[in-house]
Amino acid sequence: MIKRKHKTPLVLVHGFPLDSSMWAAQKNQFRKKFKVFCPDLPGFGKSEKGAPKTIEGFARGVKAYFAEEKIERAIIAGFSMGGYVVQAFYEMYPKLVEGLILVDTRAVADSAEGKAGRNNAIRSLGSEGMEYFAETMPRRLLSKKGIEDRKLVRDVRKIIMRQKDESVKNALIAMRDRKDRSGLLLGIDIPALFICGAEDGFTPPEEMISMANLTKGASFSMIKGAGHVSNMENPADFNLALEDFLSGFERRKDE
Ligand code: MLT
Repeated sequence: MIKRKHKTPLVLVHGFPLDSSMWAAQKNQFRKKFKVFCPDLPGFGKSEKGAPKTIEGFARGVKAYFAEEKIERAIIAGFSMGGYVVQAFYEMYPKLVEGLILVDTRAVADSAEGKAGRNNAIRSLGSEGMEYFAETMPRRLLSKKGIEDRKLVRDVRKIIMRQKDESVKNALIAMRDRKDRSGLLLGIDIPALFICGAEDGFTPPEEMISMANLTKGASFSMIKGAGHVSNMENPADFNLALEDFLSGFERRKDE
C-alpha cells in the first residue's frame, strides 16, 4: 500500500433546502484518508454570497470555492439539488473532476407538474416563510421509519429553518428551470457511483439505476432503511458504499 503525501480532495455538495452540515457523518469518517470539503452553496448555510437563479450559477459558485480552497481536481459528490449542481459542474469543468458520486438525484428536467409544484412552493414560501419547508420537507426527505425518529426530524428541521427565504426562492427557480442532463451521463468517462435510499420516493432507486445504466462502468448502491436523505438516515451503510467506491478508486490510482 502506497502512502500518499497528499490526500485526494473529496468535495461533498449539499441539497435543498439544506447546507453543508448534512455531511457531518461523512466528513468525520473520511477525513483520515481524504481532504474532505463540504462547501455551503452560495446563499446557503454560512455563505454570505447571494444565491443564483440557475443551476449553472451554483456550479460557478462551486468553481469559485475550488479556487478559494486551491483544489485542482477532486472526487465530487452531490446530493439531490447538489447532484444537479455537480452534473452541471462536470459539464462545465470536466478537467476539475476525478470521480463523480451522484446521491439521491436525477438527470432529467422538471416535468410540467414539477414546475407547477415549484411555483406553488414559491407562493407558500411568500406566505408562510421557511416554516412551510420545515413542515413539509421531512416527509419528502425521510423514510416512514425516519419520520418517527424525533432527533433526526429535529435535526433536519433545524437545518431547514436556518436557510434564507431569498436563497430558497432562487434555488426553487434554478431547479424549476434546469435543463435535462441525461445526455451527459452517456459521456462520463471517469469513475462514477450512484447511491440511492431504498425508500426514496422522490428520486426513486429505479430512476437512479437507469442513470447508472447509462453511465459507462458506473456502480450503483442502494441504502436500506433510508429515504431521500440516505446519508443522514443510514450513515453506516452509506459510508460503507462510499468507502467501497473510494478504495477502488484509490486502488486504480496505485496500479
Ligand atoms: C433536494 O433534496 O435537494 C431537493 O428536494 C431536490 C428537488 O427538489 O428537486
